[in-house]
Amino acid sequence: YPSNPQMGEGSMLERTNCRAKGGAAGFKVAILGAAGGIGQPLAMLMKMNPLVSVLHLYDVVNSPGVTADISHMDTGAVVRGFLGQSELEGALTGMDLVIIPAGIPRKPGMTRDDLFKINAGIVRTLCEGIAKCCPNAIVNLISNPVNSTVPIAAEVFKKAGTYDPKKLLGVTSLDVVRANTFVAEVLGLDPREVEVPVVGGHAGVTILPLLSQVKPPCSFTQEETEYLTKRIQDGGTEVVEAKKGAGSATLSMAYAAVKFADVCLKGLRGDAGVVACAFVASQVTELPFFASKVRLGRMGAEEVYQLGPLNEYERIGLQKAKKELAESIQKGISFIRN
Ligand code: NAD
Ligand code: LMR
Repeated sequence: YPSNPQMGEGSMLERTNCRAKGGAAGFKVAILGAAGGIGQPLAMLMKMNPLVSVLHLYDVVNSPGVTADISHMDTGAVVRGFLGQSELEGALTGMDLVIIPAGIPRKPGMTRDDLFKINAGIVRTLCEGIAKCCPNAIVNLISNPVNSTVPIAAEVFKKAGTYDPKKLLGVTSLDVVRANTFVAEVLGLDPREVEVPVVGGHAGVTILPLLSQVKPPCSFTQEETEYLTKRIQDGGTEVVEAKKGAGSATLSMAYAAVKFADVCLKGLRGDAGVVACAFVASQVTELPFFASKVRLGRMGAEEVYQLGPLNEYERIGLQKAKKELAESIQKGISFIRN
C-alpha cells in the first residue's frame, strides 16, 4: 500500500465497485487551503455533508495530516489529499464545486485590503488551475479581500476564455450568519427563525444589512439600527481583536461556508427556491459586482435579485458602500489587466 492511502487517486484501498467511490447522487468538492484555520473545520463539515461524494483537500502545507484525520470519519464522502502546486491539477480535475479559503488572515490593526498584496497572487494561481482543470465548476471564494479577489478571479477566467459569471460566487454568508445572530439577540428570538438580507460587499461599510427587510417582519429604533449595522459591519474586526494576532474568524466562517456550499449543491441538484446572499457579477447597481440575494440552480447563480425597497438610512449606507466597492473592484481588475 502507499505510505498514506489517503493521498492521491487510485489507492489500493479503494475498491472500484465501492459505494464510496462516488455514489450516484453525490458531488465532487475541492477545498483549496484545506489545512488552514477555516480549511480544517470546513473540511470536517463538508465530510459530514451527505451531498458530497468526493472531497479533495489541497494545501501547500499539512494536507496529508488533515486528510488522514478527516478520512477516518465514517461518513460517505471519499477524501483525498493533495500537497503543493504540483498536485493542484489532481486536486481540481473533475470537481463540481471548489471552495477557496487559501490566503493569509488579518491581524489587529489591519484592513482586509492590507491582505491584497499576498492573497491576490494566491487567488490568481488557484483560479488559473480551475480554468485549466475544472472550468465548469462552481467557485466559492472566501479569501480576502473578497471585494477584490472575486474581480481577480473573473479576470483570470476571462483571460482563459472560461468565465461564466453565474459560477463565480464571493462568500458573504458569514455576514448573514452574524446579522441573524445579532438581530435575534435584540429581538429576543431564536436566530434560526431570523433572516437578514446583507448586500453590498464584504468589508466595513460595504457590508450593508437591510434591517427594513428582516423576516419575520419587525421594526427597530434608530439606536438599535445604528448598533446593529455597526456590529454587523465590524463583526470580523471583533473576532480579529479578540484573537489578539492569532488570526480571524475560522469556526463561524467554516459554519457559514458550509451553509453556503450546501445551498450551492442543492441548486446543482436542481432543488427549487434555493436563495442566499453572495457577491456576484451583477446589474443590480452600476457596479460590475455586488452582493445581493441570488437564486442557485444547476448553472450556479441563475438569478440575481434586486435590492427591494430601502429606507433612508439604507439608501445613505448604499452610497457609502458603492464608493468603497468601486475602488476595491477596480483594484482587483487592474491587478490582472495591468
Ligand atoms: P490560515 O492562515 O489559517 O489558513 C490559510 C491556509 O491557506 C493555510 O493553510 C495556507 O497554507 C494556505 N495557503 C496559502 N497559500 C496557498 C496556496 N497558494 N494554495 C493553497 N493554499 C494556500 O487563514 P484562515 O483563517 O483560514 O483564513 C483564510 C482566508 O479567509 C483569509 O484571507 C481570511 O481573511 C479569509 N476569510 C474570509 C472570510 C469571509 O467571510 N469571506 C471570513 C474569514 C476569513
Ligand atoms: C470576517 O468577516 O470575519 C473575515 O472577513 C475575516 C476578517 O478579516 O475580518
